[in-house]
Amino acid sequence: MATDKLIIFDTTLRDGEQSPGASMNKDEKLRIARQLERLKVDVIEAGFAASSNGDFDAIQLIASHIKDATICSLSRANDRDISRAAEALKGANSARIHTFIATSALHMEKKLRMTPDEVFEQAKQSVRFARNLVGDIEFSPEDGYRSDMDFLCRVLEAVIKEGATTINVPDTVGYAVPELYGNFIKTLRERIPNSDKAIWSVHCHNDLGMAVANSLAGVKIGGARQVECTINGLGERAGNCSLEEVVMAVRTRKDYFGLTMNIDPIHIVAASRMVSQTTGFVVQPNKAVVGANAFAHASGIHQDGVLKARDTYEIMRAEDVGWSANKIVLGKLSGRNAFKQRLQDLGVQLESESEINAAFARFKELADRKSDIFDEDILALVSDESVSDEIEQYAFVSLSQHSETGERPQASIVFTANGKEFKGSSDGNGPVDASLKAIESHVKSGAEMVLYSVNAISGSTESQGEVTVRLQNSGRVVNGVGSDPDIVVASAKAYLSALNKLQNKADRVAAQG
Ligand code: KIV
Ligand code: ZN
Repeated sequence: MATDKLIIFDTTLRDGEQSPGASMNKDEKLRIARQLERLKVDVIEAGFAASSNGDFDAIQLIASHIKDATICSLSRANDRDISRAAEALKGANSARIHTFIATSALHMEKKLRMTPDEVFEQAKQSVRFARNLVGDIEFSPEDGYRSDMDFLCRVLEAVIKEGATTINVPDTVGYAVPELYGNFIKTLRERIPNSDKAIWSVHCHNDLGMAVANSLAGVKIGGARQVECTINGLGERAGNCSLEEVVMAVRTRKDYFGLTMNIDPIHIVAASRMVSQTTGFVVQPNKAVVGANAFAHASGIHQDGVLKARDTYEIMRAEDVGWSANKIVLGKLSGRNAFKQRLQDLGVQLESESEINAAFARFKELADRKSDIFDEDILALVSDESVSDEIEQYAFVSLSQHSETGERPQASIVFTANGKEFKGSSDGNGPVDASLKAIESHVKSGAEMVLYSVNAISGSTESQGEVTVRLQNSGRVVNGVGSDPDIVVASAKAYLSALNKLQNKADRVAAQG
């Protein structure tokens, strides 16, 4: 069933979210799902319904709002998980259950403690069960690439017979190399008698930096017609195949791949910014397509060439993927309608008038302090805005700090905890350190900071600083993001946001017993 259409299956909200610290609440997930719909991805894997009530709710919410993409839930190969996935997907226009079980000798023996025959039976049973609930079934043999070819052929032939419509071959641990992975898919398709009854899919992890290359080889050599990928390559360990790279490779080298896609690439940069600001995973400047330097020409020879004829050094157009060259979009005098329109243009849909009002008030406050407001500022502003029904225990109020050469910096911070105002003061190695210690002097979370990073949202020192703080406590890892023209304030906001997420995670764990 190799057509010339390549299906883009986005798993930012499932496999991407498995990245430590990248967890998102359901409103953040819906916002990203809306951007994926705008991007015209074919399938959105919205979560793993049976893994938590939070994931179930997020899938249900996305299924009821997103109408142009197929909504998918991951599910282990058992009746309970599959029923839960089907339940969460009830409101979807088009639903898919993605069920998986490990097939490599190592995983079967050490992780599942099951014999190959037991795995074979369970795979078959679960696809049969799922097929009675939903028509569109994807099956993944986890660690498929390290599985025995004969056994894999046996399992995949059986699940296709039971009604699996997509067969996904994961390189779960990122061990493949392009030529071998491409040939692996090709061999499977050649050896399995009913292989033409399913669409073949690739799912590659990036442990050796080859996820995109392996996925493309699976398409070109193996004849796969679905690629599983994430925005910015987000995902566990070194991440997944990056959507923007795979899409732009297939589009730019249409001469070689000869494939069409539904994707509208103009929304790629906005999607990348949204995922980065929501998760706190900063995009490296030299990242292909979406990195800040991806289209920057610093050397004189290159600049000269591009000015004379763009294609001397550019194989893609920055504007085609949504780089808008830091447009000044709004200022102090802009009204609520202009702000609302800009939110719409950026694909941000706030649910209620009160959320728009709150975001507009923050915009006005920012415009008083910063004359030029860029798209990036607006996106940061709304991702700072709490649009969730999760409880925001801590909220920033104000901060003052003093630092002078040769003296130890001091900070005083006012913040609310469950609506009650607190003031904390501390010294520290620097003003940021002093401010965060001032918060901890009251909160006493005991969390360990495992990452702190500052990024200028729109490039210059006039820009807002965007701070990411990653905290770890009792095995839980969360990222908090805060932005402000004052990076000490941005740091305090990021720290409070991370504390809120830690608290919400603890509440969810407690609720699940
Ligand atoms: O990497 C993997 O094997 C997966 C499967 C669950 C598809 O994410
Ligand atoms: Zn994966």
